[in-house]
Amino acid sequence: MYFASRLRAFAGAAALITASAIAHAQAALPNVVILATGGTIAGAGASAVNSATYSAAKVPVDKLIAGLPELSKVANVRGEQVFQVASESLTNDNLMTLAKRVSALSKQADVDGIVITHGTDTLEETAYFLTLTVHTNKPIIVVGSMRPGTALSADGALNLFDAVNVAASKDAMGKGVLVTMNDEIQSGRDVAKTVNIKTEAFKSQWGPLGMIVEGKNYWFRAPAKRHTMQSEFDIDTITALPAVEIVYGYQSVPSTAIDAFAKSGVKAIVHAGTGNGSVADRIVPVLQKVRSDGTIVVRSSRVPDGFVIRNAEQPDDKYDWVVAHDLRPQKARILTMVALTKTNDTKELQRIFWEY
Ligand code: DGL
Repeated sequence: MYFASRLRAFAGAAALITASAIAHAQAALPNVVILATGGTIAGAGASAVNSATYSAAKVPVDKLIAGLPELSKVANVRGEQVFQVASESLTNDNLMTLAKRVSALSKQADVDGIVITHGTDTLEETAYFLTLTVHTNKPIIVVGSMRPGTALSADGALNLFDAVNVAASKDAMGKGVLVTMNDEIQSGRDVAKTVNIKTEAFKSQWGPLGMIVEGKNYWFRAPAKRHTMQSEFDIDTITALPAVEIVYGYQSVPSTAIDAFAKSGVKAIVHAGTGNGSVADRIVPVLQKVRSDGTIVVRSSRVPDGFVIRNAEQPDDKYDWVVAHDLRPQKARILTMVALTKTNDTKELQRIFWEY
């Protein structure tokens, strides 16, 4: 009897100590907030073989977190459902709402890192906007998936696990907004979706910043352009984004789109030209007129890699045009919108394109 009662007392004490040790260990973990916006990572297909046929933006954030119990060993994770949309449908207003929420959370002492789950179609635009406008050194990771969680060899769970790991990592601080896809840690500025149906879809022509394997980060380079705390742009002071649109260059292109955008009162037009951002002879005078009417012209290229060289294929100084450097048209649009919240001076705009 005596020993049984002693044993029960010991077991009770051991359980209390264990519970206290677990609680203490959990409390010591970083706090990571997952902001969910939709996309395939929240998608669902009819069967496991549907890796490309599915509905995006169905699974709520709490279910995403509950489906990944491994997260509890990495961080104290909580979720907020900011939107539940496919990312091709996101708008400037959505971008502002999301960025302001990220900024507010980043200022909270009880938040150590932030993950944004997002559709992959426009993930690169959101990641760049956040890296330009959110003033924090805390890790901010944007993550998606190419296959829904219902599919064979779905990639979302590991991508999300990686994102939370990086968001909980001190060595991910001060590196700008990051993207974790397919075991790689990419710069939010440099990365783009380059394949529309493979899990190895996200690439940067300058390479990933690092890799993450079994929860450990391996870094190989650092961002070269201004971001987050180094940025002169701050989402907390931006109240609206100006209209900036993109026109595409190709053989026999008419000026219809440019004329319509100019008539609608856009503040800038990004021209996705051929090769080194070339503009067709018949389009040059149209863009010169647009510029003379006060609209900014940014020369980008439809060619994914390389970078547009000023005054090479077009006399940019003479036409007072801005070149987009290595930014693809959709990213050049993001930077132009953000830059125009501060200036419409073309020399200042060109500086901004060199620096961000
Ligand atoms: N509709 C696309 C999107 O939400 C699905 C692609 C994806 O998330 O992988 O971006």
